[in-house]
Amino acid sequence: MDNREPAIIRLEKVNMIYPSGTVALRNCSLEIEKGEFAFIVGSSGSGKSTLIKTLLGEVSTTSGCVEVAGRNLSEMTRKQLPYYRRKLGVVFQEFRLLDELTVFENVALAQRVVGVSRERRRRNSMAVLDLVGLAQKKKAYPRELSGGEQQRAAIARAMVNKPAILLADEPTGNLDPENSWEIMGLLEDVHQLGTTVLVVTHNDDIVNKMQKRVIALHKGQIINDEQQGGYVQ
Ligand SMILES: Nc1ncnc2c1ncn2[C@@H]1O[C@H](COP(=O)(O)OP(=O)(O)O)[C@@H](O)[C@H]1O
Ligand SMILES: [Mg+2]
Repeated sequence: MDNREPAIIRLEKVNMIYPSGTVALRNCSLEIEKGEFAFIVGSSGSGKSTLIKTLLGEVSTTSGCVEVAGRNLSEMTRKQLPYYRRKLGVVFQEFRLLDELTVFENVALAQRVVGVSRERRRRNSMAVLDLVGLAQKKKAYPRELSGGEQQRAAIARAMVNKPAILLADEPTGNLDPENSWEIMGLLEDVHQLGTTVLVVTHNDDIVNKMQKRVIALHKGQIINDEQQGGYVQ
């Protein structure tokens, strides 16, 4: 008997065609186990962001099956989507913090929509700000932070509702090498805490050194999927 837990992310023969006619994902099949850390690589336009958007339910697939955390996305109603998305943390290249809110408020706001009490919001927010090393800067506004700090704040916001999965779309795309390594270290910490982590990146140096699973896309197709790195450009 197979006692393995079902994959936390499963794609089966997924095709995604934009209304413009662009085929962004082509016959993609993929399984990610609970607690895995995987990179998604591929040149610009290869479908990486579309894959992330598919997992978030932001775009619908044209055909095929997508299951995330036991949910079949094509069977989900519009009303269910916001509840589903709370299981996912998301981080983007451009941070996407709210400029008029402090770091603390940015993080706390993510919980407000979930309806957590004020005191628990404060405690949860401080815990994740500690995790990312930004407790001292909780009163700062995004413009007062470096790029690396802004991305750390965005990771804190993504983690505050304790998502099972963290999706990061080019999280180091706007950062210098030193800050990029810091952010990758943080994503590794989040992974060590038990979160399933999926990271889209262009940074071959990071991919080669971190020795993780590497899923390579080319023109919407998964052309390579290797455990433990070994990816050399
Ligand atoms: N909203 C959209 N409408 C039409 N085509 C899109 C849209 N978003 C992306 N595409 C196209 O889909 C393909 C994959 O894009 P994307 O997933 O953003 O790739 P990547 O993130 O790897 O750069 C590209 O050809 C892109 O131009
Ligand atoms: Mg992209």
